[in-house]
Parts: sequence; structure tokens; C-alpha cells
Amino acid sequence: MNVLLVGGGARENIIGQRIVDDGGILYTVMGNLNPGLKKISREYLIEKETNIERIMDWNPVKNRNIDMAVIGPEAPLELGIVDKLNKIGIETASPNSVAAEIETNKKFMRELMEKYSIPGNLKYYYFTEFGAIKRFIKGIDFPFVIKPVGLTGGKGVWVQGDHFQTKDEAIEYCEKIIMENIGGGKGILIEEKIEGEEYSLQAFTDGKNVIPMPLVQDFKRAYEGDRGPNTGGMGSYSMSDHLLPFISIDDYNFSLNILQQIIDALRREGRYYRGVIYAQFMITKTGPKIVEINARFGDPEAMNVLTTFRGNFVELLNNIAKGSIHQNFYFEHLSTLVKYVVPEGYGNSPKDNQEIHIDLNKIYETGAKVYFGSVNAVDDRILTTHSRALAVVTKAEKLEDAYRTSEEALKYVSGNIYVRHDIGSPELIERKIERMRKIRSI
Ligand code: GLY
Repeated sequence: MNVLLVGGGARENIIGQRIVDDGGILYTVMGNLNPGLKKISREYLIEKETNIERIMDWNPVKNRNIDMAVIGPEAPLELGIVDKLNKIGIETASPNSVAAEIETNKKFMRELMEKYSIPGNLKYYYFTEFGAIKRFIKGIDFPFVIKPVGLTGGKGVWVQGDHFQTKDEAIEYCEKIIMENIGGGKGILIEEKIEGEEYSLQAFTDGKNVIPMPLVQDFKRAYEGDRGPNTGGMGSYSMSDHLLPFISIDDYNFSLNILQQIIDALRREGRYYRGVIYAQFMITKTGPKIVEINARFGDPEAMNVLTTFRGNFVELLNNIAKGSIHQNFYFEHLSTLVKYVVPEGYGNSPKDNQEIHIDLNKIYETGAKVYFGSVNAVDDRILTTHSRALAVVTKAEKLEDAYRTSEEALKYVSGNIYVRHDIGSPELIERKIERMRKIRSI
């Protein structure tokens, strides 16, 4: 089966690898020359993932030499790549633009949850006009979060106490969102701030059935100890029981039920969702709450779950694309750890065009795997871009063993790079458990 994959990051590298491992032939569109994807693709096109016109005009697509498509990132979904592919008869294991609105329009997501009385929603207020939001913020008497309604690459959300302290700072940021059209000029949500630990629940769905993957915790802040600017995600872990140390089976079932209700609500609205849906939850004193919903695999979370996926991935994608999935796959009961290597300065002013030295053989000897992200292969050198460079992925029964292997493997990557070594460490996990214990007991 010929599969079109759009995206050039580490998430797409593992998706592509699974496709090829399970007999698919890969045709990749990527904005950078990802060495991992280059190696496994039958053909590739170096092009921005948002240049839909050019992708549609690429020979394998134009000549309908593609049997099925998978879209990695969210931006092409918003621009209707799936709608266009479907129109020329190419089936997709990713949602069309109206279904993907669950991610691309945060106001739509909150309203949908409200309309169908889905639990886990937050108090929210929507604004498009600066004067109105300024007046609202001046009168507000609860901690809040500022969210541009549209896509911001995971970097647009400002949380009181983390990204801003005073109301003046909040108002200034709202003005910036409006003046600079951050999030595509779709307006701003003010949401109540909640306290707790975030976790990711990803699932495969054909628009009706929802089959969950193991829970993952992702670390968005750039620096150790969860400090610094928000990033796309610096690393993530999952546990062998498919839960997290601070999530009970009841929390998990409740979360999964929320996700099922969202898929059902979308279907009732005539928005048939096919693909991976990924809910970012926060566990709070009063239970699981939805932080946001994404219309794709998480990055890095895709690498946690696809590392333990057992089954035929191409067959699963094809069943999703055809609108009929069933559980003929499973996930190994192992812990996983993903650590991103990023260019120095990532989060603020990352240094691009820096050479990274990677001793792949030594890394493989440790048992770790490497997936390439936003780097460029130039001759036999690997150069950084402004984004995450590569991911080191390990698995073991116990997370502490996956952590040890990961730290060993990371010794064989050097250059002007930065890694959050604390992710997955026993100390950090203990801190998370302790924090949730305190929040629950207050
Ligand atoms: N893990 C963050 C994201 O994929 O949006």
C-alpha cells in the first residue's frame, strides 16, 4: 500500500517507520530533509506542510499513486488537506477540516462540550475586541489562562502565575494577540485556571468507536523543574500499566468516556472524525478536566505509544480511513521514555545550522532508538533548525531502567544542544505524585 505522510518531525519519523515496518510504501512531504524519513521513503518532497496546492500537485498525489494518507501536524488539517485528498479519491487516516476544528478552534471545542453537557469542561469567556477583554480582565476575581482561539504551535497559551503575574501583563498580551493576529485572528478565550498534573490520552477512532492508547505525560516547559518558556514538548514518559503514577483506573475510565462523548458529539454535528484524537487532560482535586483536544498524535507522545504498539499499523490506518476499526492490536506492558535533544536556546532563540554529532551505533548498543526531528541532512552532516532536533526513545519494564538507558544513550549526542535530563527521573516522578497528593488533600 502506498502511503502519503505529511510532516518532517520525529513524530512523523516514527509513524513512517511503523508504516514501512508493516509493509507500507512511504511517500513523504516534509519541510526539512529529515534523515530518518529520507532513508525510509520511496519518494519525498521537500515542501512546507502547509503548501497544500504544491502537495496536491506532487506527481504521486496528482497521478493518484497514493492509496492512503496520514497527516502528522495540525496546520495542514486546518487548511483542508484531507478534504482535498478525499475529493480526488485518496482516503485518509486523519480528520477533515470540520472535524479537526476540535483542535483548530478552541471556542468550538468548549461550546461543543457545553452543548452536549460533556463533563470536564472549564469556565470560559470569548472575546474579539480589545476594549471588551481589557474591561473583563480588570474586573476578574479568579486566576485565569489566556488562549488564542486558533493554532499557535503549542506556544500561545499564557497561564497566570507562570507566564504572567499582573493584570497589566495579561492585558498587554491580549493586545499583542489581537494586533499580531496570533492564532489566526480568531479571538481570545479567557479560561479559569486549574491546578493539577497534565496527562495525554490518545485514541484511534473511526468516528464512532474509540480505542485508547496508554496514557503519557508530556513536559512542555523548556527547562528542568518545569520552568522556562512553553515548547512543543521536551520529552514524555508512559508506564507499564498504561496509567500514570497519579492517575487511577477510575480517572482513566472517566477520561476515556469524555473522549467518547466528544467523538459522539462531533458525529451528531455531522463532523465524522477519522484518525487519532488526543486529549490533553489535567487531573484536579475535582477530577479530570479537558485542557485542549488535538486532532492528531501528540509529539513526543506518538513515540511513547508507537514504541509499544503491536499489530499491523498499516492495516489499522486503513481501517480508520475506511471508517471501521476493531481492536486487532495491543500495546506492550512496558514503560517508555522519550527525550528530545533540542538546539541550544530552544524556547527563546534557538541556534539553527549547528552541526550535531550522533554516534548511532553506540546509541543502538544501549538499546535506545533515535527518531529525527526538525533537522536537515546536508551531505553527511546533521544540522539543527529552530525546532526540536532528535528524540532518544527507550523502553523497559520499569521507568527507572528506561531512564538509565536513555541517559547512557544521550552521551553519544553532542553539539550546541540542550536536553532536559530530569524528565523520567525517579525524583521528578516522586515530585509529581507528591504534588497531586497535596492538591487532592487541600
Ligand atoms: N505534546 C504536545 C502536542 O503534541 O501538542
